[in-house]
Amino acid sequence: MNTRNKVLLLKIFIHLSAMLPLVYYYYLAIADDLGGDPVEAIIHFTGIGAFNLLLITLLVSPMAKKIKQGYLLQVRRLLGIYTFVYAFCHVVNFFAFEVQFDVALFVEEVIKRPYVLIGMLAFVLLIALTITSLSRLKKKMGKRWQTLHNSIYLVAILIAWHFYWSVKSEISSPLFYVFLTLLVLSMRKSKIKKILFTS
Ligand code: HEM
Repeated sequence: MNTRNKVLLLKIFIHLSAMLPLVYYYYLAIADDLGGDPVEAIIHFTGIGAFNLLLITLLVSPMAKKIKQGYLLQVRRLLGIYTFVYAFCHVVNFFAFEVQFDVALFVEEVIKRPYVLIGMLAFVLLIALTITSLSRLKKKMGKRWQTLHNSIYLVAILIAWHFYWSVKSEISSPLFYVFLTLLVLSMRKSKIKKILFTS
């Protein structure tokens, strides 16, 4: 199979495996079939979904290098966009169902729960990364594009922190994600070192 078809198949696979579970979950929510606490269930599903996709996006480059399949880099942007789509649903669910679009209540939540502030910081960075992922803007921004896109590592750390702080007692799942984040970042340690020591 030629590279073009391989990329096409991979993209179809990513579209299906990201979109279908999301649509199915919202269908269950509408059908009132998400158990006793549907709001918590959907916030959990979209939050974990966004985090998984973020880690997969960060894995693409070291994997492509390791298995010498450079074409894999062509699906990074799509994975990044789906990370944003899940994060967007997560945040919208929070605004709509937890604070009912009440800005004053949201500010209260930020003061009361610092993990919400950390999540918001990560989300603002994700918005900037998604908007500037357009090829036209990439060209226009020149070197500044790479500087901005290096903040993806910071987003991963912020989300691991957001997750860890969001749980009250059961910490094994966030700790596992902290471990996964450090593992993925360690695969990119030479790049991260370069960013830290050349700026
Ligand atoms: C304004 C921004 C955000 C707000 C207000 C927010 C809010 C929340 C809330 C309320 C929870 C549930 C805590 C609980 O269990 O009671 C949560 C959990 C979580 N969030 Fe966020 N979040 C934000 C941004 C993000 C972003 C950008 C991501 C990922 C890219 C993310 C990933 C997660 C994850 C992985 C969890 C843990 C899921 C769970 O076990 O319930 N969050 N967030």
